[in-house]
Amino acid sequence: MNTFKQKTILITGASGGIGAAMARQLADPSVTLLLTARSEEALRTVAADAEAHGTQTAVFPQDLSRPGAAEALHDAVTDAGFAPDVLVGNAGFGALGRFESESAQTYAEMLTLNVVNLTTLTRRCLPHMLDADAGNGEAGLLNVASTAAHQPLPYFAVYAASKSYVLHFSQALWAEYRGRGLTVTCLSPGPTRTGFQTRAGSMSSLTGSLESAEKVARTGLRALLNGRHAVVSGAGNKAGALLGRLSPRRAVLAIMERAFKAVI
Ligand SMILES: NC(=O)c1ccc[n+]([C@@H]2O[C@H](COP(=O)([O-])OP(=O)(O)OC[C@H]3O[C@@H](n4cnc5c(N)ncnc54)[C@H](OP(=O)(O)O)[C@@H]3O)[C@@H](O)[C@H]2O)c1
Repeated sequence: MNTFKQKTILITGASGGIGAAMARQLADPSVTLLLTARSEEALRTVAADAEAHGTQTAVFPQDLSRPGAAEALHDAVTDAGFAPDVLVGNAGFGALGRFESESAQTYAEMLTLNVVNLTTLTRRCLPHMLDADAGNGEAGLLNVASTAAHQPLPYFAVYAASKSYVLHFSQALWAEYRGRGLTVTCLSPGPTRTGFQTRAGSMSSLTGSLESAEKVARTGLRALLNGRHAVVSGAGNKAGALLGRLSPRRAVLAIMERAFKAVI
């Protein structure tokens, strides 16, 4: 796809961080932004900023860590008369620490949000996105994974595995749907200055610096317009992700175990 103009764009996790930065960057009189997350007030603030630029908006508060929430969200969106041409699967959370330090319930919610509902929402939105006559030309799917997706991470095990799913799922769909009017891109941010760091436990000491949500958002949106199957934000993060994928697994596990143990 080569433009966001005239598109109806659904962003999950739009109340703050990278999702809100994307909403701000996409604000345009020709665009309709559909914003979802749990915090209705924060969503309304993001929507008001976009409306100040002439954008049509609608907010759909939803807790996507609950089973059935993706279906409920899609029903609410279609009942309101909208059909997304672009879906940004951005909502997610992680928890840094020993595997036994979080409850089974927390992991179930993490997997429901990061994996199950991301997949369900994609499946629900797909028919319209593939229907060029019904939509506004080319459609797009931009999923947000993480540099954590590129290798297993001790003390971040469930989160990293959930993001590996997002990366591989998105890349597989890129190959399935290119040439059929749907571009699929996976964005892997490294440590970024957002609410995620507060919720997961800060990892800035592992990398020395945090990127801004604005820079990461811009990288992802540009990669979708360029038809890339995947992009890692930031040169240092790119090098780290490559090393994580290409180095012997045993060596990566030993290095990551030491590095992450030091910050939990
Ligand atoms: N920041 C980083 O260092 C970093 C690094 C790599 C990847 N990422 C990924 O980037 C994505 C965006 O995160 P962020 O960094 O922008 O963090 P953030 O500021 O915490 O934003 C997360 C967004 O997801 C929403 N969300 C969280 N739990 C939800 C739930 N149960 N149901 C619906 N929405 C929910 C949040 O809104 P509510 O709280 O209002 O629901 C918020 O809008 C995530 O997938 C994250 O894994 C972040």
